[in-house]
Amino acid sequence: MNDTQAQAIERNAARPGKVPLARGCWQSLGALVRRGARALRFVLPRMIVVGGLAGSVVAAQTPPTEYAFEPVIGMPGKDVVWVPTPPPVIDFMLDVAKATPKDYIVDLGSGDGRIVLGAAKRGIRALGVELNPDLVQLAKEEAVRLGVSEYAQFVVQDMFQTDLSPVTVLMTYLLPHLNQRIRPQLLAQMKPGSRVVTYAFHMGEWQPDTVAQLNGLTVHLWIVPAAAMGEWRWSHDGIGFSRDYAMSVRQKFQFIEGQASTKTSPVYLRDMKLEGDRISFTLTEEAGSSLAQTRYEGRIEGDVITGSARTNDHKASRPWRATRIAGRTDIEQRK
Ligand SMILES: C[S@@+](CC[C@H](N)C(=O)[O-])C[C@H]1O[C@@H](n2cnc3c(N)ncnc32)[C@H](O)[C@@H]1O
Repeated sequence: MNDTQAQAIERNAARPGKVPLARGCWQSLGALVRRGARALRFVLPRMIVVGGLAGSVVAAQTPPTEYAFEPVIGMPGKDVVWVPTPPPVIDFMLDVAKATPKDYIVDLGSGDGRIVLGAAKRGIRALGVELNPDLVQLAKEEAVRLGVSEYAQFVVQDMFQTDLSPVTVLMTYLLPHLNQRIRPQLLAQMKPGSRVVTYAFHMGEWQPDTVAQLNGLTVHLWIVPAAAMGEWRWSHDGIGFSRDYAMSVRQKFQFIEGQASTKTSPVYLRDMKLEGDRISFTLTEEAGSSLAQTRYEGRIEGDVITGSARTNDHKASRPWRATRIAGRTDIEQRK
């Protein structure tokens, strides 16, 4: 036993409502997982202990050699109970997110920290946000044991008070109404192109970009869309024609549709797509006695799109810069 572990035991012993355990039981998250099924049999007695009603009875039955917190599946949390994600699903979630060491992952309601620890084992920085201090302590101890404290951080905090702006991959295992409650916050704060991955549950009206399954267990992926709605203007010097364009875009989460016009020629807009901050579409219009087709591809940053436009099969594409003159709103309001 090292100093940190000894300090943890002292802390646990000082706190009310801890479950006395035999030496070593508290140390291993893996052991807790293996005991998950057995833990259910102890739900009632331990709930009584957690409630502080029968602590002395239990203490009298078990030698108070060491005290530690043992999470029990189904134990209450502020907005949702603790139920852990099955271990194989954690790697699957990270794979579905295509998470790399360039990412910064947050698990909202991180429980015993297993998702954060799974990311940290891959060398990815991750933060667990959890209101239960005992679960946070357990996760921190496990990070030390695994030697991944450099990557795995945990904080006792309400998920709804969490700044999501630096997060590139948000992971949750929450109920649908909580996913939907957090949705406006993540759409407002997370950068376009960042990812949201949930185990089991959906996000209401915001359809997932990917639904993946592992042995019948479902994982959803969403890519946070940029705000593409509104009125856009630009000029394009095509081959043999030069025009000013106006485009009106409507948006429902990641789905966009629009209409484009010029003062001199009808324009048909099709194949419009938004993925994160990348927007693309094709315009077809009259050019002399034939039709010209221009493919636009760019990135939205604030009220500007920068990218390129290629007319017909010409090898050289031209730089494209569009500006939004009106109509930008929050994505969540634009349903
Ligand atoms: C279903 S568990 C998921 C645990 C973990 N993410 C996993 O997948 O193994 C949900 C967790 O959210 C925590 N929780 C509930 N309400 C919360 C809130 N408002 N802020 C932070 N954590 C909360 C609970 O204590 C519980 O540990």
